Amino acid sequence: MRTLDGTNLTALAEHLAQQLVREAREPLHRQLYRQLRSAVRQGWLAPGSPLPASRSLAQELGLGRNTVLHAYEQLCAEGYCQGRPGAGTFVSLASPDQGPAPAADVPPTGAERGLARRAEALLEQITLRPEHPAAAFQPGLPDLAAFPWSLWWRLLHAQQKASTPAELGYRSDGGHPALRQALADYLRLSRGVNCTAEQILISGGMQQSLDLLARSLAEAGETAWIEEPGYSGAAQAFQAAGLACQPVPLDAGGLHWQGASLPRPRLIYVTPSHQYPLGCVMPLARRHALLAEAARQDAWIIEDDYDSEFRHTGQPLAALQGLDRQGRVLYLGTFSKVMFPALRLGYLVVPPALLAPLRSLQARLYRESDYPTQAALADFIRLGHFGSHLRRMRGVYARRQAKLRDVLHAELGDALQLMGGEAGMHMTARLPPGSDDRAISAALAKIGLCAPPLADYCLGTPPFPGLVLGYAGVAEDALLLNTVRLAAVLRGFGIGA
Ligand SMILES: Cc1ncc(COP(=O)(O)O)c(C=O)c1O
Repeated sequence: MRTLDGTNLTALAEHLAQQLVREAREPLHRQLYRQLRSAVRQGWLAPGSPLPASRSLAQELGLGRNTVLHAYEQLCAEGYCQGRPGAGTFVSLASPDQGPAPAADVPPTGAERGLARRAEALLEQITLRPEHPAAAFQPGLPDLAAFPWSLWWRLLHAQQKASTPAELGYRSDGGHPALRQALADYLRLSRGVNCTAEQILISGGMQQSLDLLARSLAEAGETAWIEEPGYSGAAQAFQAAGLACQPVPLDAGGLHWQGASLPRPRLIYVTPSHQYPLGCVMPLARRHALLAEAARQDAWIIEDDYDSEFRHTGQPLAALQGLDRQGRVLYLGTFSKVMFPALRLGYLVVPPALLAPLRSLQARLYRESDYPTQAALADFIRLGHFGSHLRRMRGVYARRQAKLRDVLHAELGDALQLMGGEAGMHMTARLPPGSDDRAISAALAKIGLCAPPLADYCLGTPPFPGLVLGYAGVAEDALLLNTVRLAAVLRGFGIGA
């Protein structure tokens, strides 16, 4: 067994440095504590051996001294080490553990699991929800019961049966031409997107589009500006590609970079039509300013237009892409909300200069999505079913939102500030200052409700406590009961009591 001695500062620091993930959400003192504890448990730091002086270790690792002191204090508090006044900190002669600790208690480090540090940093941030797949209020989930399934299966089976061998082989044309044409027509008319069918690439969903752009448009180590709070899937795609994510605060008009001193971005990720998850709409003047900023900084803008099909009030603003005269905006859409998530189809509208390279990269990195499904979707749009499904669901979701508002108000008065109701499938409930949104979210999960805390959408400190409430997937007859149960939990935390 390799042993590390606290007196061999360089070797110990090297071992620790390999595992510290500075961009992880877990605080550094906690990571350091876990790694040292693991080294003691594995016997790498032998019983009785000294830990390095906190100041030297801090210096060697480029950390604050308090970070190291904090980790040492925790180790001493748990009996893994002992502090001797005037002499330093030493590994305890007797381990507090009886045999190996249960896996749940000691999360193995990345190195122990054999994972890359990049992956380990990502895993620190990922909260997979919900444990209960039918949990009410899950954000981002459409009403799957309201989808015209028999019509869809009929169109799909017809296309599957009619598929030619050429359509079932490998392809690299950016997606089914009929679907690209149908989309171009729809996006030009409904979203003010300036595009031809040629400029559209069909992807395996928005997450894949983000992954493609992160890998293709930025070097590892370059910076992506992301909204804070924002869509964690975007941050994760960027981090997986080795980019540094720079959270940018929001104001009532969305991304608010002006006046802040921020590292130069290569990518700027925004949800201007309906900011995710706070719901602000970026006004026209800010859109022009953002385009000018991207030009000044020589950055690409990634416009995520994930749910703008469901506008409930106010005048829809055309897509940012439609204002772009320089070919800097990549417009992304998904069929997960307007059809269903398991379809795994999305699209990118690509500036002409990037078309050929992105089409080739997409074909090489992911291959093309299922062709008969794309053809069936083109039929679904062309025959008018898409439009009528959208119109119907717009009405359904608007009614659900109104009901959620009414019941929350009746139950809790003005204790919650509901944000982002102009469009979409969710609202964010701003909680009174000092509320513990994580604890509330955990209490809701115990009764089968999924309302993630705003903290889950932030890389840094959340601007205020909040819960993200998806109403689209909660059937009308279950909405009243579930909202009353939600309110009861909030009252238990002293909100609206
Ligand atoms: C803002 C935002 N962008 C993108 C997506 C993901 O879309 P897809 O299912 O196509 O990966 C979501 C899903 O919830 C989302 O909320």
